[in-house]
Amino acid sequence: MKLLLFCLTCVYAVERHAGRHPLIIVPGLTGSPLEVEENDAAMPHSWCKRTTSGEWMQVWVSPVQALPLEIDCLTARLSLTYDAKTDEYSNLPGVRLRPLGWRNGTASGKSHKDLLFSYQFDKILNRLHEELGYALGENVFVAPYDWRLAGDSHAKPTNGVGGFYEELKKLIEDAVQASGERAVVLSHSLGCPTMLYFFHKYVTEDWRADHIHGWVALSGPWMGGIVQVSAYLGGWNLGLPSWLVPHDYVKRVQVNASSGVMIAPHPKAYGDKTLVVTPSRNYTASDVPEMLRQIGPQAGGNQTASLFPKLQGPWVELQHPPKNVPMQNWYSTGIKTAEVFEFDSDIVEGFNKAADRTVFGEGDGLVNLLSLQQVENVWPQSSSVTTRTFPNCSHFGILSDARVLTALVDYLKPIRDAEVFI
Ligand SMILES: *[C@@H]1O[C@H](CO)[C@@H](O)[C@H](O)[C@H]1NC(C)=O
Ligand SMILES: *[C@@H]1O[C@H](CO)[C@@H](O)[C@H](O)[C@H]1NC(C)=O
Ligand SMILES: *[C@@H]1O[C@H](CO)[C@@H](O)[C@H](O)[C@H]1NC(C)=O
Ligand SMILES: *[C@@H]1O[C@H](CO)[C@@H](O)[C@H](O)[C@H]1NC(C)=O
Ligand SMILES: *[C@@H]1O[C@H](CO)[C@@H](O)[C@H](O)[C@H]1NC(C)=O
Repeated sequence: MKLLLFCLTCVYAVERHAGRHPLIIVPGLTGSPLEVEENDAAMPHSWCKRTTSGEWMQVWVSPVQALPLEIDCLTARLSLTYDAKTDEYSNLPGVRLRPLGWRNGTASGKSHKDLLFSYQFDKILNRLHEELGYALGENVFVAPYDWRLAGDSHAKPTNGVGGFYEELKKLIEDAVQASGERAVVLSHSLGCPTMLYFFHKYVTEDWRADHIHGWVALSGPWMGGIVQVSAYLGGWNLGLPSWLVPHDYVKRVQVNASSGVMIAPHPKAYGDKTLVVTPSRNYTASDVPEMLRQIGPQAGGNQTASLFPKLQGPWVELQHPPKNVPMQNWYSTGIKTAEVFEFDSDIVEGFNKAADRTVFGEGDGLVNLLSLQQVENVWPQSSSVTTRTFPNCSHFGILSDARVLTALVDYLKPIRDAEVFI
């Protein structure tokens, strides 16, 4: 009987090998290329293109758009306005914006995947192709999104802004239907809180059971990171190399982005830790909205401050594993990570300055260890969650680290399903 069972398992394993779990990749902050269509958009300079005549124009990442003369045009194209009275987001009038490379990483009419996808995911894609035969657009899909936004507008589009979750849900459903296998979602960085919101608030328990085999969450800033505070104060290059994204490139975009609020340090986790030191006052995580108001539009001002109660407060309620989503929680450590920003002058209206000194602590270079460890230290314990750490590896390094790639191959090997049966 035992032998028979074992052999049934063998057959099962062979069958499973034919149809592997479709893999859906959800990138992090700024990890999705963006394109716009403009129709008489109000631009800050006469030289900015105002109309694209029905065509879509890539704006992120585009070397031309980064030229000094063009940077104001780019900032305007990426403007995001939030109206607290109506709870609606909007783009600059006359601008439509969408992510580029849905499903296969390629813009329509192009044969090569976008540079940004190549930079971040080629190592993973190549390894999964070599070892398991995964092919982009066939059984591995990229799900780029408007990274300015948080879960609220992904769930509910307003004025043509948002709506990612509906498309993502359909992409997963189609992939599951085509393969007959439940999907694995792989998210990185901001993609992790973005998926946490999706699983908890957008889809049902039954939907998750029917469609999700597992979730590999890489480098999740579960309760934010202190680096976001420096984005408000002086801008930062998003952890990307300077040849791809110059320093300060999009500070004006960052400070208005609702996604920034989701990755600002959360008072529930950071408590009374001092994050910013100035001569006359120190600031903790719960002081951040007030700090933004104090500085004004330069740091997002009232608009961004008003998003904190809406997005950061209720975030605590989502800090537990989504039911029916077996989770691989992987992160890296051992890279010095900003913990306190010290300034020799006080924060006043219009403040815009890099820190005079930075105190570093433990983390992955971008996200503090405290936030990376939330799942194992603070979330309710669950047998559906497996945590793995990769020492001496950075926030972006995790996407090409040999140990991580091997772990991913092992995780996705179809034989895993059979093991459950033995
Ligand atoms: C930021 O929001 C303000 C409204 O508070 C708006 O005037 C400005 O254009 C926005 N800028 C960007 C770059 O989103
Ligand atoms: C990727 O998908 C788009 C949209 O479906 C299609 O136009 C394009 O030809 C595809 N690219 C490749 C390389 O298959
Ligand atoms: C701010 O924090 C620093 C370092 O923790 C401390 O030395 C200083 O006294 C504090 N300043 C104020 C105004 O509380
Ligand atoms: C910002 O909000 C405060 C009250 O919260 C208000 O007093 C102030 O006028 C507002 N500033 C702007 C520029 O809207
Ligand atoms: C960390 O990685 C660097 C560069 O790859 C290497 O030189 C160093 O020895 C490593 N340190 C540890 C503790 O593994």
